[in-house]
Amino acid sequence: MSQNLFQLNGKVAAVTGCTRGIGRSVAIALAEAGADLALLQRSPEKTDVKEEVENLGRRCEIIQCDLNNIEEVKGAIPAVVEHFGQIDILVNAAGIQRRSPAVDFPEEDWDEVLNINLKTTWILCQQAGKYMVPQKSGKIINFASLLSYQGGINVPAYAASKGGVSQLTKALSNEWAQHHVNVNTIVPGYIATEMNTALINDDNRNKQILDRIPAGDWGKPEDFKGTAVFLASNASDYVHGHQLAVDGGWLGR
Ligand SMILES: NC(=O)c1ccc[n+]([C@@H]2O[C@H](COP(=O)([O-])OP(=O)(O)OC[C@H]3O[C@@H](n4cnc5c(N)ncnc54)[C@H](OP(=O)(O)O)[C@@H]3O)[C@@H](O)[C@H]2O)c1
Repeated sequence: MSQNLFQLNGKVAAVTGCTRGIGRSVAIALAEAGADLALLQRSPEKTDVKEEVENLGRRCEIIQCDLNNIEEVKGAIPAVVEHFGQIDILVNAAGIQRRSPAVDFPEEDWDEVLNINLKTTWILCQQAGKYMVPQKSGKIINFASLLSYQGGINVPAYAASKGGVSQLTKALSNEWAQHHVNVNTIVPGYIATEMNTALINDDNRNKQILDRIPAGDWGKPEDFKGTAVFLASNASDYVHGHQLAVDGGWLGR
């Protein structure tokens, strides 16, 4: 099979959640495949990912974007185009989790989770679509969750937001597939990142989770490199509105 199918040379990718965890791994993978990178992050002083991308010989710019600041969110994609002259790939990897029993779940936590996980994903997709639809090409990768399918316990806002991300992805795909803009989701299973520190440190919960994962272990951020490059590249040109699980087999069980 031609390696060119997976090459991203000459492409510009914008990635949220790129400072750590899955998003960081995805950003590095896209750069390794040849893309230049716009890192949409709230802390411009965190330059380690930028340096890693530049060490791979790619161009990289940090675009200040606190996902709690709607004006910065709305300005992020125009800023990418101003810097690079184009946008070809958008990865919405940022996400937050808040845990609390539903009867006590704070309204401010609900708003923050829905805003960061769902509304900013929508705004960034819409902004990217304004460039990708007219140019008749583009790749958008959103991050859903097992809780796009299951309700979870003590995570009502997260479950609602990730159900929304799945449906939003399908809705955009239905409109934009005809314009050769691919909108898909990656569905992580249980991945060992900061988001799951509490679960990993709870011996009982950790054992319950591990017992249910057919692969027998937590996933790692690096496990997303291949799927991200696939969905960002020509290799996935006829893949639209898909939900690609990277979950060690959890959903199949
Ligand atoms: N880990 C899992 O098991 C799992 C399972 C299912 C789905 N997912 C989804 O996969 C994606 C990546 O998860 P992860 O585990 O890699 O998360 P993570 O390690 O907790 O990293 C979260 C990322 O989001 C960024 N972020 C959070 N709030 C932000 C804000 N207000 N403005 C800008 N950036 C902000 C963080 O930036 P800072 O460094 O600035 O905080 C960080 O880069 C998320 O959408 C998550 O919901 C993860």
